Amino acid sequence: MSKILILNGPNLNLLGTREPEIYGHETLSDIEQNCKEHGKSIGIEIDFRQSNSEGELVDWIQGAVETIDGIIINPAAYTHTSVAILDALNQAGCPFIEVHLSNLFSREPFRHHSYVSPIAKGVICGFGAHGYLLALDAISKLVSDKEEY
Ligand code: DQA
Repeated sequence: MSKILILNGPNLNLLGTREPEIYGHETLSDIEQNCKEHGKSIGIEIDFRQSNSEGELVDWIQGAVETIDGIIINPAAYTHTSVAILDALNQAGCPFIEVHLSNLFSREPFRHHSYVSPIAKGVICGFGAHGYLLALDAISKLVSDKEEY
């Protein structure tokens, strides 16, 4: 069974009540439950985490080396600021997919740049919570076709 780490950055713990017109009404725990159910149906074990701290996210990415087959990450605001998360993902040794609930490109210009996109296998944004399930399908294919990365 493949092991996938799903990481969520700052303020995503507030989903459900945080700007629902942008981020939707589902809570992070709804998303976690949906990911775990979907993961089970496609043979993926999921470790789902959230932190408001950049350093903690870096620690978790470092901890994934050798133990995790792939990462799905919504770095939230750190997407647009964090060289530290970029560096950590660069040495994680497994493929990762970047996910955003909102369509970054229909929002403020400062959200159009992501530090991590250039090294992601792919980016999914604008599909709300469903984007996490799309990312799970995509990473499942990536980890089963290991020779592709
Ligand atoms: C987000 C988009 C980011 O710009 C923002 O800072 C977030 C959430 C998204 O999922 O749409 O916190 O990553």
